[in-house]
Formats: sequence, structure tokens, C-alpha cells
Amino acid sequence: MIRLAIVGIGNCASSLVQGIHYCRDKGADALGVLFPTLGGYVPGDVEVVAAFDVDSRKVGRPLREAIFAPPNNTARFHADVPDNGTVVSAGAVLDGVSSLMRNAPAARGFTQIDGDGASADEVVAVLKAARAEVLISFLPVGSEQASAFYAQCALEAGVALVNGMPVFLASDGPWAARFAAAGLPIIGDDFKAQIGATIVHRALAHLFAIRGAEIGRSYQLNVGGNSDFLNMMDMNRLTSKRLSKTEAVQSAVRTRLPDDDVRIGPSDYVPWLDDRKVAYIRIEGSNFGGVPLDLEVRLSVEDSPNAAAMALAAIRCARIALDRGVAGAVPDVCAFLFKHPPRQMDDEVALARLVAFADGSS
Ligand SMILES: NC(=O)c1ccc[n+]([C@@H]2O[C@H](COP(=O)([O-])OP(=O)(O)OC[C@H]3O[C@@H](n4cnc5c(N)ncnc54)[C@H](O)[C@@H]3O)[C@@H](O)[C@H]2O)c1
Repeated sequence: MIRLAIVGIGNCASSLVQGIHYCRDKGADALGVLFPTLGGYVPGDVEVVAAFDVDSRKVGRPLREAIFAPPNNTARFHADVPDNGTVVSAGAVLDGVSSLMRNAPAARGFTQIDGDGASADEVVAVLKAARAEVLISFLPVGSEQASAFYAQCALEAGVALVNGMPVFLASDGPWAARFAAAGLPIIGDDFKAQIGATIVHRALAHLFAIRGAEIGRSYQLNVGGNSDFLNMMDMNRLTSKRLSKTEAVQSAVRTRLPDDDVRIGPSDYVPWLDDRKVAYIRIEGSNFGGVPLDLEVRLSVEDSPNAAAMALAAIRCARIALDRGVAGAVPDVCAFLFKHPPRQMDDEVALARLVAFADGSS
């Protein structure tokens, strides 16, 4: 068993919890599973033993109910989640909630618990009492203070950290060093979804590179109707997300594009899309003889299961790192799973490195 704590019981957490039970119930018949076994662990080995949020419709409720509380609106692909006794605890509010979420109608917005939430001592006590081994962060984009708060709590509780969101921790030298000093692994940052806009865009950039074609300009425009997209309409919270998404593509292009020739990021919030995300990718370039060409791709995908698939791999990698006494950032597993890893790698190389790490052969 891998004892997991989750921060942020939003859509990604909902898909993750459903996904654990989907894998347990379906066994070998489960569809779309990345790494059915990894270092001896299967996805169903993950048990959520603690959960934190600051929305009054989630805190104090059994996890199996909280994952379907508003404003969560992702697909119910395996809604039959048994009660394992885990109840959502209050976290610390800090900068976790955007003004757009606070001002949205209740069904789509945020309803705060009384007060500012828990202290660090209280969060650490919950992690210790639950004997959590790995903490995963699904905090909203732009939660800089809250991310630092929970990372510090993980250090104090002696828990490995998986950072699924775009505040830079695993790819930040000082944070990675703190985890190394504490003898704990840290894996991140910002999940590269299973079949998401980033991996499709990277694959297309790679295709141009290996076929000898040139990319001149590109954009990736994304729309969606979940809380994450509403949050991302606040441009002040978006800096690191845009950087994470842009660098993930720039690192796959043969010759880095000038800043004005590449534009990547969330472009609008369309409430009726709910958790569906639509990405429009355009690449302009040239092939033999400098003759121009352009290419357009439209991807439509449920956003949160797309991240949960990667989370189930990352959580198992964190546990493998704990088992082997690996501390600090783990570049060999981050590049395949995250948009902003400590070190970018070609996706095929990154996959081979992750598998070698899990097998113990690296
Ligand atoms: N969906 C994907 O494919 C994908 C991919 C990569 C990264 N991400 C990132 O994962 C993160 C989570 O995405 P989501 O769709 O689940 O978001 P969400 O808005 O549905 O969920 C966030 C949850 O965090 C809670 N929260 C806010 N402040 C908090 C605090 N201080 N302490 C504890 N909880 C707090 C909110 O109440 C909410 O329940 C986002 O940062 C997103 O950008 C998602």
C-alpha cells in the first residue's frame, strides 16, 4: 500500500480517487493505464489516507463525497468509491483562491470555510496521524504561498512531495536542496497530461525536427470550463503556468523560437465545456527548399483524468524513491511526467529513464 495525502480536492483529485478504484475494480481490464505495474506497484496500491481543502462544501466531508462537491465538474467514470474513513481536513487558505473564483456563482465558484484554516502544526499533525508517505499537490494555479506552506509541512512531517501544479518546487534548486537535506524525494512540476496539448505539441515539434523541416511560428490556444480555466483568466496568477507550458514546447523544437513567435496558454473560460478542454495548435514553417507549410490540430479531451493518469505514475515513483533512499529532485522520473521538470529530455529518452529508475537498473 502507498499512503497518499492530497492537497486540493478539485477535479484532478476527483479523477485520481475515482481512478484508483477503477483500477482496483477492473484489474487487468482497466483501460488507458500508464504503467500497469511500476517497480512492483500497481495503481490500486494507492490509498488516500489524508486530504486537505479550504472550500466549506468539501472540508469535513468523507473524501468519497467531497470529490463530487461543487464546483467539481469532471466526468464520473467510476463514481462508486467506497468509504475508507478518510475525511477532508481544513488546510491553510493563504493565496489558494483567485478573486474570480470568489466572485463566481456558488455552483462554479468558491465558498470559504470559517477563518483562514489550519496552522502548519495542525497540517503536519494530520499527515503524521495518517502516516502519510507521499503528499500530492493539486492546488490552483498561482498558489505561491500555499505551495510553499504545504511543501514545508511535507518536510516537517517526513513525507515525499509530488507537485502536480505549476509553482516551481522540484525544478527550483533551493526547494530541491531542502528535500535532499531532509532525505525526502520531490517530484514535479506541473503534470504533462497523458494525451494533452503539451505532449501533442511536443510530438509535432519533434516530427518537424526529425524530418528536417523548419518551424517558424506556433501557437497553442486552450479553452475549458472547469475551475482551473476560470482561475487562469487571472493573468496575475498565470506567469509560471505560461512559462511551464511554453518551455515544454520550446524544449522540443530543434531551434528555440523567438519569444514573439510562440504563444502558448489558456485562452478563455467557456462554462458549458465543464471539464472538457479544447486545444487548437497551429504550426507554421517550411520544408525542402524553404517552401512554406502550415499545420493545424484540434484536441478535445476531458482535462482531469488526463492528469490523474500521470499522477498514478508519479505517486508510485515517489514511493519507489522512498524505498530506495533517493532524496531531493529525481530528474529521471520528472521529465516524462511533468511539463517543467528539473531537466527537460526528449520524451522517448525520458520514458526509458523512468522505466530504468523503476526497474532499479539506472
Ligand atoms: N487537468 C490537468 O490536466 C492538469 C495538468 C497539469 C496541471 N494541472 C494543475 O493541477 C492543479 C489542480 O487542477 P484542478 O483542475 O484539480 O483544480 P481545481 O480548481 O478543480 O481544484 C483545486 C482545489 O484546491 C482547493 N484549494 C484552494 N486553495 C487551497 C488551499 N490553500 N489549501 C487546500 N486546498 C485549496 C480548491 O478549493 C479546489 O478544491 C492546477 O494547478 C492545474 O493547473 C492540471
